[in-house]
Amino acid sequence: MAIHILKDNIFVLETKNTHYVLGVDKYGYNRHIHWGKKCNINDYEAKDIWDENSNHTRLDMAKQEFTVFGGTMYRESDLKVQFPDKCREIDLEFVGAEAEENLLTFTLKDKHYPLQIALKYKIQDNDDIITRWAEITNTGDEDITVDRMFSAELTLPSTNPYTFKNTNGSWGGEYVETESTLEGGALVFDSKRGTSGHNQSPYFIAYQNADENQGDVYFGTLAYSGNFKVLCTRDLFYTTRVSLGLNDHDFRYILKANETFVTPVVYCGYSMNGFGEMSRQMNRFAINNVLPKQFNDKLLPVLYNSWEATEFDVNCKHQTALAKLASKMGVELFVMDDGWFGARNHDRAGLGDWFVNKKKFPKGIDELINNVNKLGMDFGLWFEPEMVNPDSDLFRAHPEWAYHYDTREAHTLRHQLVLNMTREDVQEYIFNRMDEMLTNHNIKYIKWDMNRPLSETGAENLDCPQELWHRHNQAVYSIVDKLKEKHPDVAIESCSSGGGRSDLGAMLHFDQVWTSDNTDSIDRMTMQKWFTYLKPTKAMRAWVTDINWYNSPMSLDFRFNVAMQGSLGVGGNLTKYSKEDLEIGKKNVTLYKEIRHLVQFGDLYRILDAKKDEILFNLYVSEDKNEAVAFLTSAHTGFMKKEIPLKFMGLDDEKVYTFNLNGRDWKKSGAYLKNVGIPTTVRGMGYNKIIKIKAV
Ligand code: DGJ
Repeated sequence: MAIHILKDNIFVLETKNTHYVLGVDKYGYNRHIHWGKKCNINDYEAKDIWDENSNHTRLDMAKQEFTVFGGTMYRESDLKVQFPDKCREIDLEFVGAEAEENLLTFTLKDKHYPLQIALKYKIQDNDDIITRWAEITNTGDEDITVDRMFSAELTLPSTNPYTFKNTNGSWGGEYVETESTLEGGALVFDSKRGTSGHNQSPYFIAYQNADENQGDVYFGTLAYSGNFKVLCTRDLFYTTRVSLGLNDHDFRYILKANETFVTPVVYCGYSMNGFGEMSRQMNRFAINNVLPKQFNDKLLPVLYNSWEATEFDVNCKHQTALAKLASKMGVELFVMDDGWFGARNHDRAGLGDWFVNKKKFPKGIDELINNVNKLGMDFGLWFEPEMVNPDSDLFRAHPEWAYHYDTREAHTLRHQLVLNMTREDVQEYIFNRMDEMLTNHNIKYIKWDMNRPLSETGAENLDCPQELWHRHNQAVYSIVDKLKEKHPDVAIESCSSGGGRSDLGAMLHFDQVWTSDNTDSIDRMTMQKWFTYLKPTKAMRAWVTDINWYNSPMSLDFRFNVAMQGSLGVGGNLTKYSKEDLEIGKKNVTLYKEIRHLVQFGDLYRILDAKKDEILFNLYVSEDKNEAVAFLTSAHTGFMKKEIPLKFMGLDDEKVYTFNLNGRDWKKSGAYLKNVGIPTTVRGMGYNKIIKIKAV
């Protein structure tokens, strides 16, 4: 890893396998020069641009690191402002660049107005991920109005069209993969809901002729949980660019005198070995550099969550009964979900009243917490802090705290309104209620839920109401950070009707995320694959429940097999389980504890695909390649039978591995397992196996 500052203002970021090169050209434009395989660094230059003609301008042709609105530039821009004298153009000059260890700062300023832009690039040893963001400063003494402010622009090297992977998910159907080839014009992936949402994802994955194991893949993901925009374009010169940042939909920001706006970061990278290598790089990067430090290197506990078993009908007796059964299975953390507070007997009342419901818990919540603790488990609690039901004491006392316009109907969704999180009194109320619960009760885990998008976003407290989208998101992050600072032993999960806030921005603050309200094991086989494209496996909570959408009940072993490919949880109604089922649960939880270090921290090799190959074959390998665990899972195979040589990837060719499969103890080299494989018959409904592999 190194940052090279060359003559003629050329800067080379050298990562493990790549060069990312930028600079300044003879016209003074900031220029993107190269992103990809390493070359001789002395060869790099900011090449001249063709002569312009009356329709094709130099600025239009330039590949830039950050494009601003103004002059003879007719493509999309990353920054658009209005200065106090109503001028809406930016004209930049290069100020200088400096490298401090692993951080390059490349500074530009407007030639006339007090506007400065610092482009930031951070690299680290051992991977090809670059963290990019921009810092926009008003160095003058009058306000500057900002109408668009993206974090980074990335130019892809090939003049041929790229295919972009993104998602077209929904509640209960998150992460559904899409592919679109961009030949000309634009592709936009965004959210306008106030959260990153279930639908499109704040990332791009661009490739040509790549698959899971080979080919060039460029990718980048915005670490942000609010309204985002990923804008991919291919122009008349066949240049493909991607800009990522805050959505400019209903956006405006007043940059005050001497204020610096720091954009959310983009993590971007290049894999020469397909999507698998991309995911492994991002997985390791996210564990080491994104997830909060308290728990990033700790094994996540096996949890039980009461939602699917009890919904709102919670009380000490029934929760204790569930806790007893969960602890017998080996569960380490018991989480009581919705229903414990206010008049929360259904989803029509109580949100906002974060006081323990005395009818349900006449002796207080500590009775249950003590029971759980005596069983040897930690206790966790659900909140939905950003919301209020009109039927709640909070709303009756402060109707003005919900987003609204006096002249418009504030629409409820799931009978609830969104609190105006940009108000300090609202932030204080939420922090104080949660802090009080954490201070006075032995709570070690919070599930922070968010079950509807924003609407009727009147925020009369703000001078510039369009700032509310960003300010709302930042308020959530800041309350989470404050709670963690005061209660460093408490882990916090991000949930938004399932995976509606499961982006890497959330993972800079929350320790893990709820993946989806769809806990059907067959659906999860594919959802979990798409989740792990750019997000860490460790953060992906996966529960074993009693849900069965397909009317073909999968065995408990099968359901455990799928959930054990993430951070395991249990969520079924254990009081209805037979003795035998409870034993199966215990056996699997015990096994999970033996292999979870591989699942949560290992390198994932997706060898066979649940849809394409009818069999899911995932291998998680330890960093030193001395240990691995393989999951073989098939909902059903065509003709009820499939003969395959199981070929393993990611192992060390030279090492010899032992494991038991098909009733036999095997001892074979990594090379043999990769090239020859183990003959296996996968047969019937719900075939599943977990194979523990060790190097001798
Ligand atoms: C939506 C979440 O995704 C569920 O897990 C559960 O917590 C419910 N909300 C509770 O209302």
